[in-house]
Amino acid sequence: MITLDDAVARLTKGDVVALPTETVYGLAGLALNIETVKKIFTIKGRPATNPLIVHTSSLEKAEELCEINDWANKIASQFWPGPISMVLPKKDIVPNIVTAGNETVAIRVPQHPVFLEILKKLEQPLAAPSANPSNRTSPTEAKHIKELFEENSPPTVDGGKAEVGLESTVIDLSAGTPTILRPGMITRTELANCLGMDVGTLKSKTQYKQVGKDTQSSAPSPGMQPIHYAPKTPLNLYHSVGEFWDSQNFDTGDVIIVSEEKIAEEIRAKGLPDSTYLSADGCPHEIAQNLYSTLIEQDAQKANRMHLIFSGASTGVNWAILDRLRRAART
Ligand code: TXA
Ligand code: MG
Repeated sequence: MITLDDAVARLTKGDVVALPTETVYGLAGLALNIETVKKIFTIKGRPATNPLIVHTSSLEKAEELCEINDWANKIASQFWPGPISMVLPKKDIVPNIVTAGNETVAIRVPQHPVFLEILKKLEQPLAAPSANPSNRTSPTEAKHIKELFEENSPPTVDGGKAEVGLESTVIDLSAGTPTILRPGMITRTELANCLGMDVGTLKSKTQYKQVGKDTQSSAPSPGMQPIHYAPKTPLNLYHSVGEFWDSQNFDTGDVIIVSEEKIAEEIRAKGLPDSTYLSADGCPHEIAQNLYSTLIEQDAQKANRMHLIFSGASTGVNWAILDRLRRAART
């Protein structure tokens, strides 16, 4: 672990460090330094076609990097600093490597006091993807970074457990109607209310494939790849205890994770082993906050298989949770 001042010194030199944000930990480096950005891609094992989010300390600083339109102004004034990234037309100062050659850049002002203070001390923007090897579960605690990267883990500032626990909502405001590319804690309804209009979504895998094919790129937002955020242990997803029970998939050496305590009781009533619950009462914010840490901790147990029962409907914050769970599940 390193201190905040040490992180500032290393970042100034062009090094890459892991920093806390309110969503998940980020693998941060100077966004305008091409060599640094290359290091981020290498450490993460991330394909050069998947663009990075750039973090600034304020809307004014963001405006040096991209074209801020009316929608962006509205969203920034209501939700920044906070867990939402906006895709906007980029200015020339942003290197193409950051945006994977796109004419747009994803920008966010994060809320975590440590990250904000570092941005203010540096007076420069930081590119920061989630601090996990490509396609693995994002870290929500400093100790996860060592577990995920093992001997290759980057120097890390410990900022405690991430409050949100899921990556930021990504909304494309660069052309056409506002479209959510990645659901998150800031919901579709909140965004529609803020903008005074309906907000689109990338609805289904079919649509994702279609867009990918039309544009000759792998995906409109590569975080939308079908397999992503995955633990090493295979994960099966169910929507009720009945569905899980009927599947007859459970075997000794497997673990069970459930969204709320009352489901854990149903599991116990069936004579199955104890399960881990994500929330006492099914509160989506609590589930989101505990989801990745539970997946990473259970992954370390080296179970044969994880069975996760999530009973919530796919709306609001639950839409973001289910989006991540579907991508984490391999079957
Ligand atoms: O909460 C977060 O957003 C975290 C913290 C560290 O800020 N960062 C994060 O970054 O999740 P990353 O790189 O893991 O995810 C960035 C997502 C990807 O799905 C990427 O494809 C999308 O944003 N993205 C970035 N730039 C884009 C662009 N110009 N157009 C479309 N999608 C973009
Ligand atoms: Mg990520």
